[in-house]
Amino acid sequence: MPANVVVIGSLNMDLVTRAPRLPRGGETLIGESFATVSGGKGANQAVAAARLGAQVSMVGCVGSDAYGEALRGALLAEQIDCQAVSTVDGSSGVALIVVDDNSQNAIVIVAGANGALTPALIGCFDAVLQAADVIICQLEVPDATVGHALKRGRELGKTVILNPAPASQPLPADWYASIDYLIPNESEASALSGLPVDSLQSAEAAATRLIAMGAGKVIITLGAQGSLFASGDGFEHFLAPVVKAVDTTAAGDTFVGGFAAALAAGKGEAEAIRFGQVAAALSVTRAGAQPSIPTLSEVTVFKTS
Ligand code: RIB
Repeated sequence: MPANVVVIGSLNMDLVTRAPRLPRGGETLIGESFATVSGGKGANQAVAAARLGAQVSMVGCVGSDAYGEALRGALLAEQIDCQAVSTVDGSSGVALIVVDDNSQNAIVIVAGANGALTPALIGCFDAVLQAADVIICQLEVPDATVGHALKRGRELGKTVILNPAPASQPLPADWYASIDYLIPNESEASALSGLPVDSLQSAEAAATRLIAMGAGKVIITLGAQGSLFASGDGFEHFLAPVVKAVDTTAAGDTFVGGFAAALAAGKGEAEAIRFGQVAAALSVTRAGAQPSIPTLSEVTVFKTS
């Protein structure tokens, strides 16, 4: 049986435009293309873990609109268990995304149904959490829900991963003791630690502070520079494979899902990080969130080529 990864988080329909550059405030730009793509950090991480070898269950909410059915269908197509994906009245979550010619993006999300994922609703699906080997959370659902899920994961003795995205302020202090792996990007690490993060040295300082705050281990993703792994015993810098980026949307999600799938399958931390990095590197060579996420065989081929 493949190991079981449970993702508790968001499902968004991504409304994606490509433009030569990101617009400035008050400016109207002529876009080059438009696409409607299944996304949401939670759902993307679920798809990544499933394509990369794990048995996956999703815990989340979609709206009673057409996007809701499409978002659920996208997960079902990956054989992801959706018994804990609830349909609630109203709109599904959406993300308005602009991707520029340098493959950078700007994203505005509207929570919609993701806001209906309450601690009480998670409690209805406790059996799903009990069956998990690894539990992953992000920050696109209510804070109370994330806090509840982290603590329940810890109580159940699961491996608990928090990808604190998006984050613009410190996390509640009592969350840290429940987190085995905290996986922020540079700006999130800065928001959480209160320290600037713009170099390997500053990432080490931020990771040290986050471990002092109670996180088990920290992996700061550094984009094309790879990632920094920190434990109480020291640091290791993992260089990323060099690829030509087309769209970085969901690269972090692919890393988190791939890392979790590898960890759940019994790989060591270093191997799981390298695996996640290869998967993320492949994802940036393609457009869109879920469509860009590679399969296990694609990662294997890349690693052996
Ligand atoms: O991490 C990428 C995701 O962020 C997008 O799919 C979008 O939905 C937002 O949640």
